[in-house]
Amino acid sequence: MRIYLDHNATTPLRDEVLAAMARSLRDDFGNPSSAHAEGARAKGALEDARERVAALVGARPGEIVFTSGATEANQLAIHGIATATGPRRRLVTSGVEHPSVAEPTEAMGAVGWPLTRIAVDPDGRLDLEALATELEAETALVSVIWAQNETGVVSPIERIAELCRSRGVPLHVDATQAIGKLPVRLDRVPVDLLSASAHKFNGPKGVGFLVVRGERPLAPWLRGGGQERGRRGGTPNVPAIVGLGVAAELAATELDERAACGAALRDRLWRGIEAKTPSVRRNGDPTCVLPNTLNVEFTAAAGEVLVEALDGEGVAVSAGAACASGAVHPSPALLAMGRTPAEARAAIRFSVGHGNDVGQIDHVSTILPDLVARARALAAAEGGSR
Ligand SMILES: Cc1ncc(COP(=O)(O)O)c(C=O)c1O
Repeated sequence: MRIYLDHNATTPLRDEVLAAMARSLRDDFGNPSSAHAEGARAKGALEDARERVAALVGARPGEIVFTSGATEANQLAIHGIATATGPRRRLVTSGVEHPSVAEPTEAMGAVGWPLTRIAVDPDGRLDLEALATELEAETALVSVIWAQNETGVVSPIERIAELCRSRGVPLHVDATQAIGKLPVRLDRVPVDLLSASAHKFNGPKGVGFLVVRGERPLAPWLRGGGQERGRRGGTPNVPAIVGLGVAAELAATELDERAACGAALRDRLWRGIEAKTPSVRRNGDPTCVLPNTLNVEFTAAAGEVLVEALDGEGVAVSAGAACASGAVHPSPALLAMGRTPAEARAAIRFSVGHGNDVGQIDHVSTILPDLVARARALAAAEGGSR
């Protein structure tokens, strides 16, 4: 039996979602833009899903733009707002954004858009004073993450939204990790644009959405047949969107239960790790963190070695470092929090979700001390032989 503790990377599909998608794949094959009964049926499925997603986030159905995921939604928000509003003006973002916000803003910075990245403190909290000083009439857009994917640290979105609103600056929030874990209600928080992805809350991969509040002008990123009211060209992936709709409804009805169960398991895991494994440190503000996320530094061990060792024991987790082309890069988010590359490399992210239970959590905290001791011995031997 595998123990899956990597729900921030992706989540298993819920049975209800799978059943709805299977039906839709078979029955909703028409093109929603077609003027016949088959088209109308597909269009009905699409609009039904739009209503469910809108209900989850407290928006109007017409404000939802379906996309291929949060990466596309983030690009659409950033380029769409920036380029719809004339000359190059300042973009303000944070030092702990997901690459799908960090890279497009970086690329725009490289071609002349003034770009500011707001710093975070050692606990991953945004410097709100610095943010306030960057909000000037010249700012085209502020884009901040609602909950950080690696550390789980939650941004003070209400305060940021009030600040942006008071200065007349549009605010985009990447809520990919927040949906299904925290209340995300745009009828209570004045956020202008919001991105999310279905596979992070037990829906399918390759589908997500951008909420665009009001009638804000937005330049399309994908131009084509005028779908999604001209904001995203291309025939929509109806069965995936149907799955997103069901996942959204489940997330709305189960939110409190998911948050309570997640927090209980996450806290139990941390207590177990702290009690049994020496020299560990929790990364990120523990008072303001996603209920399902625990990021731990196992000092003097290599995260990727631990991930492999845990995988060998049937446990799926993720390292704070991304592995690309064989090279290990320390997590930019942890570096932004002031960790050294070695400290960042020693971090592991545990993220709990549907299917986890107390027995699994206790098993993981029991097998960890031995695996950590071995990883530390290996790191020491490698350090010594250099
Ligand atoms: C915070 C955040 N934003 C955006 C994304 C991108 O989502 P997708 O890969 O579904 O486009 C992720 C996925 O890891 C994420 O965690």
